[in-house]
Amino acid sequence: MLKKFQIPIIVGNWKMNPQGADEAKKKYNEIVKKLVYKSGTVVIAPPIVYLRDLYASKKGQNSALFLGVQDVFYEQAGAFTGKISPDMAVSNGAAVALIGHSEMRSAGDTDDVVNAKIHAALSARLFVIICIGEKERNDEGVHFEFIKNQLIRTLRGIKKEDASRICIAYEPVWAIGTGTSINSTDLHEMTLYIRKQLALDTSLKVFSTVPILYGGSVTPENAADFIIHGNADGLLIGKQSLDPGSFVAIYDSVSRVKKTQVRSK
Ligand code: PGA
Repeated sequence: MLKKFQIPIIVGNWKMNPQGADEAKKKYNEIVKKLVYKSGTVVIAPPIVYLRDLYASKKGQNSALFLGVQDVFYEQAGAFTGKISPDMAVSNGAAVALIGHSEMRSAGDTDDVVNAKIHAALSARLFVIICIGEKERNDEGVHFEFIKNQLIRTLRGIKKEDASRICIAYEPVWAIGTGTSINSTDLHEMTLYIRKQLALDTSLKVFSTVPILYGGSVTPENAADFIIHGNADGLLIGKQSLDPGSFVAIYDSVSRVKKTQVRSK
């Protein structure tokens, strides 16, 4: 059972992959086998149809690895064709929910919808990774205002006692799946900006120490740089999480970073 997010937080988002249950089990078992736990929290978020199988295969083998879902709906039950409730996710083995991923946002999720989903997920006792990120940047720095508004809108009304089950994943949309990641100087600037906004806004103060992850074209080669120089507390990994060797290599490179470097605050 996941009791607390431990830093570094390394999350694999498999998106709509792989295409069959056998392949999903194979990939997952390979991760279980290869991953030698050192520190942190490791999460794999497969398509929900594989969740139960993976949960069963994980049991007793690797207590450091947790399962997540890529989304949940904000209602608990009813006539909502195609949706998954937070309780369904929990009863199938999920400890964590990604909410507000840019691919869900581009399919129609507004900040208000994201906020409602966060509330529902927290009520079901899930840990929540809230994804935020700008679509573009310009010389005037419009992305700062954009991120500030996303923070205010998505965190609205979340209770202080739930703050320890939340982390924020900063994923600039232009870096997701493009092979062009952010550079660690710009990431450092953004993690500081997010922390400052959380600390300055009276309604967000309780979230000022939540972990901040980075996501967007993370690889085994660039992963440690985001943690050491970008000041991220963890990583959200798409494409490279589908390759068990790469995913574990990312975990290894990051979990080797000394605790003092992981959070230089
Ligand atoms: P990527 O995806 O690592 O393939 O860029 C990241 C994400 O979508 O969370």
